[in-house]
Amino acid sequence: MSEFAELKINGQSYNLPLVTGTENEVGINIGKLRAETGAITVDPGYKNTGSTSSAITYLDGENGVLRYRGYSIEEVAEKADFLEVTYLLIYGELPTQEQYDNFVADIKKHTLIHEDVRKILEGFPSNAHPMGVLSSLVCSMTAFYPESLDPNRSSDEVDLSIVRILAKLPTMAAWAYKNEQGHPVNYPDNTLSYTENFLKMMFAVPAEDYKVDPVIAKALNKLLILHADHEQNCSASTVRIVGSSHASLYASISAGINALWGPLHGGANQAVIEMLENIRKDGGDVAKYMAKAKDKDDPFRLMGFGHRVYKNFDPRARIIKKAADDVLTALGVNDPVLEIAKGLEQIALEDEYFVARKLYPNVDFYSGIIYRALGIPTEMFTVMFAMGRLPGWIAQWKEMRENHEPIGRPRQIYTGYNERSFVAMGDR
Ligand code: MLT
Repeated sequence: MSEFAELKINGQSYNLPLVTGTENEVGINIGKLRAETGAITVDPGYKNTGSTSSAITYLDGENGVLRYRGYSIEEVAEKADFLEVTYLLIYGELPTQEQYDNFVADIKKHTLIHEDVRKILEGFPSNAHPMGVLSSLVCSMTAFYPESLDPNRSSDEVDLSIVRILAKLPTMAAWAYKNEQGHPVNYPDNTLSYTENFLKMMFAVPAEDYKVDPVIAKALNKLLILHADHEQNCSASTVRIVGSSHASLYASISAGINALWGPLHGGANQAVIEMLENIRKDGGDVAKYMAKAKDKDDPFRLMGFGHRVYKNFDPRARIIKKAADDVLTALGVNDPVLEIAKGLEQIALEDEYFVARKLYPNVDFYSGIIYRALGIPTEMFTVMFAMGRLPGWIAQWKEMRENHEPIGRPRQIYTGYNERSFVAMGDR
């Protein structure tokens, strides 16, 4: 393999060094391109541009491969606990039993949030979207833990900031939901596991002895693992670029939550269920809607199909599809919206139009279905995605800081006016 890529501009040749990753991915290092050639690259959405080198997550879009620190998504989803995967992503290795126990114990110490956070929470109207509440409450942690503002503190202090947000995010998420419902909040129950505690904070009601359904807790554990990281997606890149200015972990995570909120990213699972509900309200004719999806003049957009990176299938979708079937069966769920989903899925997997365009059901299609079956309200779907993605965001931020990466500052190609003289107001 050559060590350089040759670039010719106006007859002059330039040699650009090649970099090769541990999975033999090849990148062209353009770090000196502008200085040497005066030219820059242009790649809206950065679909062909590597922003960094990372050892956290590997994905192969052509072959549907996803690995966390080298472990396949299939194995960790089947065999691991979410906090085990959280530790793996952030610290690079699967924890020993002692490391895991200490990690869980540290998190349990910090599940409560400052009572003054309730004053912030109660300031939101009940129609506030939980993602906006969550990003605000996470950013408020910079005020309650001002020492977290300095990202260059000792590793022990950074680890404490990490444990605090891992511990408090589920509480904040559940409280955001309760605030939207106008219901009293539930305080953490540290006798329970991470997922069981979240479910109890979400669904327990006063004077009832709420028992977590183990089927639901197990499914939620798997869902969080499947969403834990996905290399340089929109929200992870947001966390990195905000953190690259030496903004704090909490400010960077809050920015990541806001990036995830968009319907083209983490908001897709909510958009899927809203699409299914609309189809149900219109009579549930899936063939009609799949025909609308093919009609480029029709404003209907099919949500939850295809993926920017995975060209053949999303490995997470395969795992979630089976989990969804298992959960629906175990819980005896009979939901017309879910039947509509199965109808859309069948057409998408069989109709040449969708097969040729790789429009297969993706992770957002099935996650919306399973969250609904678990009783998670639609407006909380993206919050669930955020709870799963939190370890990945933390790992990406930590790696970026430990590698002393420079501040992110992309360039542009200017397309505006050439120089012109100012015109006085009266002469315009
Ligand atoms: C994700 O998991 O972040 C989504 O699949 C989006 C992406 O990777 O671009």
